Amino acid sequence: MSASTPEPYIPDTGLTVVKKVAVPPGVPPVQLSLNESHVGASPRAVAAAKARADMLRRYPDPASTALREAIGRRFGLDPDHLVCGNGSEELLDVIGRAYARPGDEILFTEHGFIQFPIVAMRVGATPARAPERDRVADVDALLAHVTPRTRVVFLANPNNPTGTTLGVEALRHLRDRLPGHVVLVLDSAYAEYATQPDYTAGHELVAGADNVVVTRTFSKAYGLAALRVGWAHCPPSMARVLNRLRGIGNVNALAQEAALAALDEPGWVERVRDEVARMRDHLTREYRALGLEPLPSQTNFITVRFPAAAGRTAADAHVFLATRGVIVRRVDDHGLGDFLRVTIGSDEDNQRLLDGLRAFLDHAR
Ligand SMILES: Cc1ncc(COP(=O)(O)O)c(C=O)c1O
Repeated sequence: MSASTPEPYIPDTGLTVVKKVAVPPGVPPVQLSLNESHVGASPRAVAAAKARADMLRRYPDPASTALREAIGRRFGLDPDHLVCGNGSEELLDVIGRAYARPGDEILFTEHGFIQFPIVAMRVGATPARAPERDRVADVDALLAHVTPRTRVVFLANPNNPTGTTLGVEALRHLRDRLPGHVVLVLDSAYAEYATQPDYTAGHELVAGADNVVVTRTFSKAYGLAALRVGWAHCPPSMARVLNRLRGIGNVNALAQEAALAALDEPGWVERVRDEVARMRDHLTREYRALGLEPLPSQTNFITVRFPAAAGRTAADAHVFLATRGVIVRRVDDHGLGDFLRVTIGSDEDNQRLLDGLRAFLDHAR
């Protein structure tokens, strides 16, 4: 009998392993590689999760009813058009499973979010990439890459890892020209952080369309990443499909309670957004002053280009920063080998990062 494990049907995506760097023992780590909120969850959300922890024997509501109603009230949406997920990640996966099969194509942009090719490969569909313009999604290029086999277009707006964003007119242009056999997914995970005046999370584009889904999350600005709560807004016909494929008790009870309470904390997300926007401007100026090239970000991270010269590259900086405890994300797996993606942290974290970068660039001189 062979000792090898059974052969899976899914190909090795090769995309799921994030390169880790070692932080020397005794150096306090600064985690700036995962785009987590530096502010954290609101006190009401934490209290609600703790309170529900006293009743762990009870199952969660499988329909996340109270949470969908609260999201509906907050965003002016019909709860029957909402589906909650175990993170928005689950919903992206469910959309892929619902609408694409082997032989189909799933289309996204050149430096699109890493989960998009992963979803395609999981369902045996072919991942297809449309070029971007200066690392910004190009909706005409996306439209030009639609074929009769395209079933899903994923667009993260703002995008991870570029942080760049399209305005409402570009999204409308895309939606209006996309053939009806293609599902358009607007992944608005970072919507709360966007301050660009023409930004939209895209909910108004769902109305009147049969094929548009917007996904959102409590992981980012609401600071609930550990609990895994996301939601999708889509036509009711699609909500019925997504509900059939999602996990039955997919959003755990602590997560439902915490997300509900998070929505009930007036001004919390707005304060987080304003603080991040202030730091984003500051860090963008500092990166430029160091001679680096930050991409224009509408998120809680900034992706920065490093020189190609030996000793000064993104890969070199990644290792150097880790020796000082500062952990940032390489993005070569997104086709951005010259860049590092750096989460915006607390003032203290950001200072350690900037000190580390200054030391790196001096050292490499
Ligand atoms: C663009 C984008 N979409 C979706 C997600 C998934 O978020 P979650 O599953 O935590 O809701 C992430 C997480 O980093 C992301 O960056």
